Amino acid sequence: MADKELDAGKRRFLIAATSVAGGIATVATAVPLVASMLPSERAKAAGAPVEADIGKLAPGEMTRVEWRGKPVWVVRRTPEMLESVKQSSGRVADPRSERKKELTPEYARNELRSIKPEYLIVVGICTHLGCSPVDKFKAQAEPFESDWKGGFYCPCHGSLFDLAGRVYKNKPAPDNLEVPPHTYLSDTRIRIGEDSKGA
Ligand code: FES
Repeated sequence: MADKELDAGKRRFLIAATSVAGGIATVATAVPLVASMLPSERAKAAGAPVEADIGKLAPGEMTRVEWRGKPVWVVRRTPEMLESVKQSSGRVADPRSERKKELTPEYARNELRSIKPEYLIVVGICTHLGCSPVDKFKAQAEPFESDWKGGFYCPCHGSLFDLAGRVYKNKPAPDNLEVPPHTYLSDTRIRIGEDSKGA
């Protein structure tokens, strides 16, 4: 009898743990699951800042962090990628992110849209109708752009973004990708959801 109760207890724990994992991934639509979240996960879903270790990110790589149910991309840009941003400045609609200031914190309102040139940190949601653009980092001729310098392509309606998340001219997306509030805790650790004070 005691064993049976123990097994039932284990099962309940496993179901609760599974609910927590599911709730993190689908928090925007799965409100009932919030009740079963651990306090820290509940706080994250409500908008608390999240921290990420970016120390293992190799040049040219991207990692994804979830913040407020949104995907945040962190790209470690190579010198070539940074050069491609400069080359794209004449082709993008809002090169210094001046149109919608709420999408770019003041400390990222520059050509590279970043605090540290090496790292791009943007919300991976297209500003047109909310699709998820795909990364196309390699500079090469693409079916959607013969003189492609590298960046992000939104397959839904063809918007293009450079390696600073700046939207190309004459595309459906009205704005650059959002830069979330963020700050560096160290050279290898960032906090997303909190503004940088020192930049
Ligand atoms: S949702 Fe990205 S171009 Fe329409």
